[in-house]
Amino acid sequence: MIALNPEDTALIRRFLTLLAPYRFKFVLASICMLGVSGFTALMAYLIKPAMDYIFVHKDVHMLAVMPFVVLGVFFLNGLCRWASDYLLQEIGLSIVAELRQKLYNHVMDMPVSFFDNQAGGTLISRITNDIQEIQFAVSKAVTGIVRDAFMVVGLIFVVFYQDWKLASIAVLVLPIAFFPLFIFARILRTLAHRSQQAMAKLTIVLHETFRGIRIVKAFCRENYEKERFAQKNDEYVKYARKSAWIDAMSSPLMEFIGAIGIASIMAYGGYQVIRENATPGSFFSFLGGLLMLYRPVKSLSRLNNFIQKGMVSLTRVYDLLDRQNTVKDLPGARAVDRIAGEVIFKDVEFRYSTEPVLKGVNFQIRPGEVVAIVGHSGSGKTTLVNLIPRFYDVTKGAIIIDGMDVRTIKLDSLRRHIAMVTQHPFLFNDTIRNNIAYGWNDPHNPPDDEAILQAARLAYADDFISNLPDGLDTIVGEQGIRLSGGQQQRLCIARAILKNASILILDEATSSLDSQSELEVQKALENLMSGRTTFIVAHRLSTIQRANRILVLSNGKIVEEGSHEELLTFGGTYSRLYELQFSSGKVCETI
Ligand SMILES: Nc1ncnc2c1ncn2[C@@H]1O[C@H](COP(=O)(O)OP(=O)(O)O)[C@@H](O)[C@H]1O
Ligand SMILES: [Mg+2]
Repeated sequence: MIALNPEDTALIRRFLTLLAPYRFKFVLASICMLGVSGFTALMAYLIKPAMDYIFVHKDVHMLAVMPFVVLGVFFLNGLCRWASDYLLQEIGLSIVAELRQKLYNHVMDMPVSFFDNQAGGTLISRITNDIQEIQFAVSKAVTGIVRDAFMVVGLIFVVFYQDWKLASIAVLVLPIAFFPLFIFARILRTLAHRSQQAMAKLTIVLHETFRGIRIVKAFCRENYEKERFAQKNDEYVKYARKSAWIDAMSSPLMEFIGAIGIASIMAYGGYQVIRENATPGSFFSFLGGLLMLYRPVKSLSRLNNFIQKGMVSLTRVYDLLDRQNTVKDLPGARAVDRIAGEVIFKDVEFRYSTEPVLKGVNFQIRPGEVVAIVGHSGSGKTTLVNLIPRFYDVTKGAIIIDGMDVRTIKLDSLRRHIAMVTQHPFLFNDTIRNNIAYGWNDPHNPPDDEAILQAARLAYADDFISNLPDGLDTIVGEQGIRLSGGQQQRLCIARAILKNASILILDEATSSLDSQSELEVQKALENLMSGRTTFIVAHRLSTIQRANRILVLSNGKIVEEGSHEELLTFGGTYSRLYELQFSSGKVCETI
C-alpha cells in the first residue's frame, strides 16, 4: 500500500532527526494511541457480554453495571484520542515550523547567483506549499498510521476471537470490497493532479494581469484577459466536476458493497446462532468489530496519497536545503573593523555561464578616490561593481581591498563597509523612515529621526518627504509604487548615506532623476563621496565628469583610463560616447 524506496527511507530518517527533541511527547502520544486502539477493541468486545447477559439471560446485576462500564470505556477512549491527536498535531506543527524557518534561513544566505536561476514563485511555493504538504503528511499520516494500525490489529484480534471461521472468510472477502475504493482513489489522484495544474495556470493569469494592470488597460485588453481567465476557470471546473462525481459515488457504492457483506454475514451468522453454534453476543460483537474496522482501514488506504505528496515535497525541500552556498568565506577569514578603501582588481575574469562578461580587468583605486565606470549598456558595469560586495565571486583573478583578498574577509564585515545604490531602486512596503533606516549598521540601536532626516536632506529627499501628509511615516507601497522613480532613487541614496560606509557604489543611481534634481543630488553625492572610495556607474557622462578617474569598459575589458580631459584628447571610445551624448542634446545643460 505504501511504497517507499531506499532514498525515501533516507529522507524520512533525516526528517525524523527533527523529531528528537519531541521524543517524550511522542512516546506519550504513542501510549495514548495504544490506549485508543485498546479501548476501541474493548468496545467491540463488550458487545458480547452486554448482549448475552442483559438481552439473552436478562441478568439484572449486569444491567446495573454495564452502562457504567460502557460510559467509562468511552470516556477513557475519548481522553486518549484527545491527548494523542493534540500531541501529534503539536509535534507536527513544531517540526514543520522549524523546517520552514530553516529553509527560509538557508535561502536567505544563498548567493545572488542562486536567485538569478530560480523563479521567485518557485521559491515561495517551496516555503509555503511544499511545507504545507509535509505538514499534512506528518499530522495526518503519522497520526493515522500509528493509531489506525494499532486499531486494526486490536479489532482483528476481537473479530478472530469471537468467530475465527467467519473472520477468516471476512478477511479474505474484505479486500474485494475495497477494490473499487482503490480504483476510485487512483482516478481521484489523477484528477487532483490535473485540477492543481489548472489552478496553477489560473494563479499565473491572476498574478500577471494584476501586476501588469496598466498595460492591460493601456492596450484595452480587459476582455481578452477575462476570456483567458474564463478558459482556465472552465478547465479547473471540468476536473473538479469529475472529481465530485466520483467522490459522491464512492461512499454509497462502498456502503452497498458493505451491505452485501453484512447481509451475507448476517445470513451465515444468524444460521450459526439459531443452530446454537454461537451466542448472539459473540455474533454481534463480531459484526461490531467488523464495522468498526471500516473506518481505520479506509483512512489507512487514503494515507498513501498524503504520504506520496508529502514525500515529493520533502524531496524538494531537502534538495533546496542541500544546495551549497558558493559564495563562502575562506577558512580563517577575519572580520575587519575599519577599511581605508583601497581597491585593486587583479586580472579579474567573471562569467555568469560560459561566456566571460569580464576578462582580465586590472585597476587600482586609492582610498578616497572617485572613479567613474562608463561603457555601453551591457558592457558589464553592473557586473563589475557587484563583484566588490561579493554578490558573485570572481571566476579568475582577485579583488583586493586594503591588501586583503575579499574572500579572506568575513562576508558580513566586508559588506558592512560598502554602501550601494543599485541600478533598479528597491524599497520595502514600509514607512519612509524604516526604508532609510534599513541602511543603519547597528540593528540594536535604531537611528533617531534627526539622523534619518539628515540623510534625507543630503539626498535632496527632505522636500518631497515634508510635502507628504504623513511625512516620514508614509508607507511607500510595494516596491515604492506610490512614489515617482526619482523619489524612489533619492530614498535609496538616503539609505546609502545613512550607512556611512568607506566604499560607496552608485550604479546609475541618478538615472531616473530629471536634470535639475540630478544636479542637486549630484551635489549631495559630492559631499557624500568626499573621503570615501566611490564607484560611479553612469550612462550619462554629465554625472561622471567630476570623477578623479574614468575607466572605460568595453567587451569586458578596461580599454581606456584617465581624466575626462585626457580621454577626450585621446579620442577613443570615451570621446565617441561623449560625442553621442553631447549631440543628442540630452544632458548638455548639466555638463
Ligand atoms: N544575472 C545574470 N545572469 C546572466 N547574465 C547576466 C546577468 N546579469 C547580466 N548578465 C549579462 O552580462 C552582461 C553585462 O551586464 P551588466 O553588467 O548588467 O551590463 P551594464 O550594467 O554595463 O549594462 C550582459 O550581456 C548581460 O546580458
Ligand atoms: Mg547596469
